[in-house]
Amino acid sequence: MNFDFTEEQLMIQETAREFAKSEIAPTAIERDIKAEFPTEIVKKMGELGFLGIMVDPKYGGAGMDTISYVLAMIEISKVDASLGVIMSVNNSLVCTGLQKYGSDYIKENYLTKLAVGKKLGAFALSEPEAGSDATKQHTTADRDGDYFVLNGMKNWITNGTTADYYIVIATTDKEKGHHGITAFLVEKDTPGFTYGKKEDKLGIRSSDTCSLSFENCRVPAKNIVWGEGKGFNFSMNILNGGRIGIAAQAVGIAEGSLDASIKYSKERKAFGTVISNFQAIQFKLADMAVKVAAAKVMTLSAAALKDKGEIFYKEAAMAKLFSSKISVECALEAIQIHGGYGYVREYQVERYLRDSKITEIYEGTSEIQKMVIARALLK
Ligand code: CAA
Repeated sequence: MNFDFTEEQLMIQETAREFAKSEIAPTAIERDIKAEFPTEIVKKMGELGFLGIMVDPKYGGAGMDTISYVLAMIEISKVDASLGVIMSVNNSLVCTGLQKYGSDYIKENYLTKLAVGKKLGAFALSEPEAGSDATKQHTTADRDGDYFVLNGMKNWITNGTTADYYIVIATTDKEKGHHGITAFLVEKDTPGFTYGKKEDKLGIRSSDTCSLSFENCRVPAKNIVWGEGKGFNFSMNILNGGRIGIAAQAVGIAEGSLDASIKYSKERKAFGTVISNFQAIQFKLADMAVKVAAAKVMTLSAAALKDKGEIFYKEAAMAKLFSSKISVECALEAIQIHGGYGYVREYQVERYLRDSKITEIYEGTSEIQKMVIARALLK
């Protein structure tokens, strides 16, 4: 596969790199400690077009491709994976979902605001008893005239308390199994819609994760995304693209771990010389670099397939499975190279380890990715 990036792709990569260095890096440690949502940074990211990268300019987006999105995601996540997931959910799950499957009404009223970052989106599929087994949706939506009445609970929702618009998945016809599940666009402050406390997480701590609760929450029928009974297929389709975003996030964390390790090993002295002179360190750096390069190629290949309009779900699952695995491995090696300094906050690599773990869990655990890959191989 040939990755001769276009000028536009290189431009967004460079813009993201500069933005991450100047605007995100200075407060990353503090926000992680305080579990503080980066409101101002997210606002600036919206102004720069990072929240609607793949959205048609007609709806306020940057009109770029998935490769551009991956390059930007890597640069942002390299510095702060919390910003990576905030950006990823808005781009790959919410904006892409609405652009591809939303009605004109939904696109004009909601997508345009999400794409320019005036509003933030969340995607609510998971429930206390429907995580990996996502067809078991207990949240219900019963028709009442021109409205549907939602009741139930969602959890682990990224951008949970900070979003303005939520794509909520609910069962509209229990008899029909996963073909009786529907996606709704629900606005914040709709009566009957409340959220729980922010989760106190191991990593990606400055992103905002919480549960949502619906109690007789009335949502207009015109806010259905795609069509009644199509909500599960909608979720699966957009999660395929979402997995490319999370793979890119994982690559960014792994590359951040490698860069920090190269820098540290060239400065740190032991036994009369810098530790980069020792083969023990060199071999670790070489192994990390190979893993980062392979994960990047897999992620960009999946993005290229998607951009060509080809079937990409197996490649997206493979990219996420591999990138998330090497992300954890590279972060662990970075700590080992840093020794005691790797175990304290100041040197950031302990944050990389905490942040990397979630990439093996959300948007489908590694075990789910293996299921998806194996089913594709055996069909
Ligand atoms: N792409 C497109 N369609 C898919 C698909 C895929 N990757 N995987 C399944 N489907 C479709 C099937 O084709 C089938 O459709 P039809 O019946 O219309 O033909 C339908 O989904 C049901 O599929 P299965 O019979 O295979 O269902 P299953 O129950 O055996 O398995 C599953 C489904 C793949 C395990 C699915 O439940 C799954 O992906 N689980 C993981 C859920 C997940 O990723 N959650 C992430 C939450 S969001 C999040 O994390 C965001 C965040 O905060 C960062």
